[in-house]
Formats: sequence, C-alpha cells, structure tokens
Amino acid sequence: MKLNSVVFKLGATILFLQLIILIPLGYIILQLILNYSINQTETQLIQLSEKYAEQVDDLKAPENQQLLEQLTTMTDTSAAILNQQGEMVLQTNWHDNIVDEALENPQLQQLKEGETIVEGYNFNGSNYLKVAQPIATPDGIQGSVVLFSSFGLISNSIHNIIFLVILASLGAVVLAIGFTIFISKKLGAPLVTMEKVAKEIAEQKNFSLRVDYKANDEIGSLAQAINHLSETLERYQTNRNEFFSNITHELKTPLTYVKGYANAVRHEMYQSKEERDEFLEIIENESDHISNLMDDLTDMSKIEEGKIDLNVEELDMNHLAEEMLKRSQFRAAEKGLQLHLDIPDHTIWIKADRNRMDQILTNLVENAVRYTEKGRITLRIANQSDQVLVQVIDTGIGIKQEDVPYLFERFYRVDKSRSRANGGTGLGLAIVKHLVEMHEGSIEINSELNKGTTVSLYFPKQ
Ligand SMILES: Nc1ncnc2c1ncn2[C@@H]1O[C@H](COP(=O)(O)OP(=O)(O)OP(=O)(O)O)[C@@H](O)[C@H]1O
Ligand SMILES: [Mg+2]
Repeated sequence: MKLNSVVFKLGATILFLQLIILIPLGYIILQLILNYSINQTETQLIQLSEKYAEQVDDLKAPENQQLLEQLTTMTDTSAAILNQQGEMVLQTNWHDNIVDEALENPQLQQLKEGETIVEGYNFNGSNYLKVAQPIATPDGIQGSVVLFSSFGLISNSIHNIIFLVILASLGAVVLAIGFTIFISKKLGAPLVTMEKVAKEIAEQKNFSLRVDYKANDEIGSLAQAINHLSETLERYQTNRNEFFSNITHELKTPLTYVKGYANAVRHEMYQSKEERDEFLEIIENESDHISNLMDDLTDMSKIEEGKIDLNVEELDMNHLAEEMLKRSQFRAAEKGLQLHLDIPDHTIWIKADRNRMDQILTNLVENAVRYTEKGRITLRIANQSDQVLVQVIDTGIGIKQEDVPYLFERFYRVDKSRSRANGGTGLGLAIVKHLVEMHEGSIEINSELNKGTTVSLYFPKQ
C-alpha cells in the first residue's frame, strides 16, 4: 500500500483518532482507580485503628501483642503501640525501613488532643500510609496505636490495570489495521480498476471499455461518470468516423464525374458540339456541388465548435422574406412553380443576424423548390401571441412519417440519388436547425407523402 494512498490515509486517521481517545481515557481511568484504592485503604486503616484503640485499656497488657499480631497479619499492615512520650512499647509485623520515627512531636501533640492522624509519606523510595489513633482510657490519653500500610498492594493492582489498558489498546490497534485492510480491499480495489480503465481509455483510445462496479455511493457515482464519459467518447468516435466516411463518399462521387467527363472532353469522345457542352455543364455542376459541400462543411464545423458569432440587429422580417423570395423566383419559374408570399399588413420585427436568417430562409425555400414538381410554394410570416411564426409550405413530394425524425441529421437524405441529382448534400436542414436554435427558436416539420411539406419556425417575440 502506498503511503499517499487514500486507504493508508484513512487507516492512519482511524489509528490516530483511536490513540488520542485511548491515551487520555486510560490516564483518567488509572487516576480514578488510584484515588479510589487510596481512599479505600485509608478508610479501612482508620476503622481498624479506631477499633484497636478502643480495645486497649492498658498499654502494658500482654494480650496486646497477640491482638496486634492477628490484626497485622490479617490486613498485611505493620503496627506499633506508642506511649505518651512517643516511645515504641510494642510492634508487630515490623519491617526495617518503614519509618525513622513513628510519630513526630507535633503529631504527638495532636494525638494528645484526641485527633486522628492520617499521613501519606515516602520512605527510601516507597510510598506508605500512616494512621495514628489516640488510646483513650478513663484516665485520659495513654498513648497511641499507629498502623502502616505500604502502597505496594495498590500499585500491584494498578500495574494489572495498566497492563489491561495496554492490551485493550493493542487489540484496538490490531482491529484498526484489520479494518484498514478490509476498507482498502473494499474501497481501493474499485478505485484501482477505475484508474486502469481511465488510463486505457485515454492512452489506447479504447472507448468500448466500461467499469464493472455498481454501488449507491460516491465511488458508484464515479464509476457511472467514467462509463458515461466513455459512452460519450464512443458515440463521438462513431459519429466522427461516419462523418469522415460520408465526406469521402460525398467528394468521391462528384470527383469521379468531373474526372470522367474531363477525360471524355480531352479525348473528344462526344458526337456533337451540343454533347460536348453537355459534358462541360456536368463538370461545372459537379464542381458547384463540391464547392457547396465545402461551404456547408465549413458552416457546420463552425457552428459545432461554437465559432459563429451572431450579428444581431432589428430586422423587418416582411422585407427580408420579400427580398429573399425575389432571388428564388428564377429557379422556381424554371420548374413552373409559383412562389407566394403571405405576410401581414404590419411590419414584423425580429432580433436576428441578417445573413444567417437569410441563409435559413434560402435553405428552406430551396428545399421546397427542389422537392416540388408542381403546384406552389408559400413563404408565410405570422404574428402569434408570444412568438413569430415563419413557414415554408409546399405542394411537393412530401416525406414519409418515419423519415421525419432523421431529417436534421448530417447527410441524411430521404432519396439519396434524387437529392444528389438536385445538388443536395444532406447538410442543409442540420445547419438550419443549429442556426434556428442559436436564435433561440425551434423548428418543426409536418409532411404528407405526395401532398406536400410544411416547415415551421418559431422565434421569440422581442
Ligand atoms: N420540402 C421538402 N420536401 C420533401 N423532402 C424534403 C424537403 N425538404 C427536405 N427534404 C428531404 O430531407 C432531406 C434533407 O434535407 P437537407 O436540406 O438537409 O439536405 P439536401 O436538401 O438533400 O441537401 P442540401 O445540403 O443541399 O440542403 C432531403 O434530402 C430530402 O430528402
Ligand atoms: Mg436542402
């Protein structure tokens, strides 16, 4: 496990938290137990000394020795009986090095006044507790009984407790390490897989890879996000490949014509001057087709990269439609089609880029002319409650219902050969849709096969 891995950091944090909780907690518990033990011993010694002091009437009585011995062996203490002057009359269970002098003068004085003396002291490096009780007889205070207890017993039990606390802490640390290893498996493994997948997607461009991890948490969301990213990249790649193969195909067909007919003209493979002109016209038309394709592609890529800036101004839509229709008159007349303009009496203003709006209308009217054999084409501008409606209505070949959803896709043509013969590339509606949306408008196509098509644009009213 790396030192800078998330799992290691998590494990270290858990350990650190455990230690900062365990150390003060252990210290507090020890202090509590220590105080409790000292208090307990103190109370016991006081009670014992009181009892004993009550039983002694005569300091010199021989049974004192036995009584005191019994008491000290039972309670593992040392005891002494002192006379009024502080001299030791009797002692039991006496070890050397307990004390220099059993009682000092001020303490003797206190005892004479009937007070109990409780004192903790350190002698030769060991801690002791001393309790002295006055021996009161009807004739007054005769002397005192002094009990000594070493802290050795207390510290023994404290050592046990310290040992238990350390053992518990070690247990907690082992648990924390186990927990960290478990978490590292649980958290680390999917993260490592995701890292691998992400690297492979980035370095080997293998966009079909997916992360196989499902969970309802942040790591699960991350896996989902990576899968979403690779899906998008995969779609993008397929789209791009299709796009290039489409362009290649679109360029190849006209180029084959240009090359073939140029060759025919060069080798004088025509029968008459008219036929030669016909060949040259084909070359001209196909060159136009390539040029149109290039223009459309340039537009398309600019739009998709968001590189087109709209030069928005107040436009008189009636006027724009009129001007645009005039330019298409010639093409329509060639096919014997009537062009009709349906605009209201009042001026309709719209905020738009003049050239782009013209491009939108031209594309739609051109389509209508291209895909209509007889009848008429109407360009309608109308005011609606909160939007401006622009419609191009034709009485042409129409489009099958199932084709309508695909019309805005790049290179989509319902009848490829027919569209091509008319010079179409299949990019027109895709560009129109983008441009309309850039003007915050929307586009809708309604069509009936062999009856005609209506393309409606809706723009927000200013
Ligand atoms: N008014 C219409 N009537 C019938 N079919 C239409 C009409 N407008 C578009 N279409 C169908 O939709 C297809 C896509 O139209 P689009 O304008 O995108 O491409 P195009 O006209 O073929 O080529 P270009 O890029 O030159 O406009 C056309 O090929 C045609 O089949
Ligand atoms: Mg078109």
